[in-house]
Amino acid sequence: MSVATPFLLKDIWYFALPGNDLKPGKTKAKVLLGEPVLLGRTKTKDGGAGDVFAIRDICPHRGVPLSEGSFDGQEVHCPYHGWRFAPSGQCTHIPSLVEGQDFDITRIRTRRYPVREQNGLVWIWMGKDEPDQEPPGMPELPADLRPSLTEVMLFPCSIDHAVIGLIDPGHVPFIHRSWYWRNGPIRLKEKAKEFGPSPYGFTMKRHKPATTLLYRILGGAPETEISFRLPGVRVEHVRVGRHSVWNFTAVTPIDEIRTEVSNLLFWTIPWLKLLVPVAKPLMGHFLGQDRDILT
Ligand code: FES
Ligand SMILES: [Fe+2]
Repeated sequence: MSVATPFLLKDIWYFALPGNDLKPGKTKAKVLLGEPVLLGRTKTKDGGAGDVFAIRDICPHRGVPLSEGSFDGQEVHCPYHGWRFAPSGQCTHIPSLVEGQDFDITRIRTRRYPVREQNGLVWIWMGKDEPDQEPPGMPELPADLRPSLTEVMLFPCSIDHAVIGLIDPGHVPFIHRSWYWRNGPIRLKEKAKEFGPSPYGFTMKRHKPATTLLYRILGGAPETEISFRLPGVRVEHVRVGRHSVWNFTAVTPIDEIRTEVSNLLFWTIPWLKLLVPVAKPLMGHFLGQDRDILT
């Protein structure tokens, strides 16, 4: 599907990538909202993980992608003439300058994008001005909890089409047919859900979910609450006794006609990690069903 949206909202936080994708001293180039962005994580003196940063992936000298150069854990080196840039986007070194040459390199910088990292989620702000709010995050999560399962998939459509899959219950019995979710003849049941307002969106109030293999594995009597934060973050919180599972989904525009859909699962149930080798391909298959209908 290739119906273009007239514009992309910029003055909001977007989910950029899982923090785990950025190892200390490494960078990752991405196109986000049609702009080339170089994301990276600095390395501390003892080799540990530093802060995440994001700068425009274009050298202000002759416009080559900085991602084609190198990163030493502190500075990005342009591949063309070796100019160096700090994570703030500030130019720090021009190798061809000779002593005595009166040139103020502090006037040179590439754009820096504000970023935040919370619970292993990296958020980016691509608005013209500095952010006037903090990213939505998942404040109910324990501070040290990180995702146990991650799937990131490119959808060939605008964010407007990708986001519908997050709030459209009518497609579920038709698209998500599989042995691990729903099988057999399509059965439609009338259901009523209660909604209430929540920051920048709305929340489907806590209810007992339909019986699926996933919920059967969790055992007990799971209850789920699903919150939507516009334009594209969905968090499902499943509570089973004293334990919780959070299913975080975010849609991020690559450009007007391509959208990245990211699904990350968090949980406080230690034994669930045993299921990761099986659950990971299933999660990819499930998300692929949403993507394939749009292809
Ligand atoms: S193009 Fe980057 S240093 Fe010249
Ligand atoms: Fe779906």
